[in-house]
Amino acid sequence: MKEITKGTFITDTEADTRAIGLSIADAAEPGDIVALIGDLGTGKTALTKYIAEGLGITEEVISPTFTIVREYRSGRLPLYHFDVYRLSGPDEFFYAGAHDYLEDSGLSVIEWADIVADALPEDALLIYIEYAEEGRRRITLI
Ligand SMILES: Nc1ncnc2c1ncn2[C@@H]1O[C@H](COP(=O)(O)OP(=O)(O)OP(=O)(O)O)[C@@H](O)[C@H]1O
Ligand SMILES: [Mg+2]
Repeated sequence: MKEITKGTFITDTEADTRAIGLSIADAAEPGDIVALIGDLGTGKTALTKYIAEGLGITEEVISPTFTIVREYRSGRLPLYHFDVYRLSGPDEFFYAGAHDYLEDSGLSVIEWADIVADALPEDALLIYIEYAEEGRRRITLI
């Protein structure tokens, strides 16, 4: 991943979340992994949609909750969008073929990444999303 501003951002609206997604897309390089960690409805899929937009992906990005992973190939890099909410841990993640994706030259974005944390490389970009007051979100890039 190219240089990207880390730290905590409060997003008042989805437009602010979009700005973060676009900057992640700009910084993304082949093989990068983005680990999204946050409660139900905090905006993990929303952020992924904006990353996809920033990559120039033209397909509609749909939550991969029931398929575990969806692939999008119409942008600057392939996007592999995971939602591992229904998995029990890293073993099931590997059975789902995660290695092939993580080691490929696309950008992997993983919702509920805390569930498979042990399977992720140390240089993954960690993003925590939390609810803040009045509908805001607190987004922390580590
Ligand atoms: N600042 C904000 N940033 C992101 N989303 C926001 C913000 N404010 C409101 N929202 C809304 O919050 C909702 C987030 O839903 P989304 O499906 O992205 O969450 P999620 O974390 O992927 O949920 P799940 O855990 O079910 O996968 C959307 O309806 C979005 O419009
Ligand atoms: Mg989601």
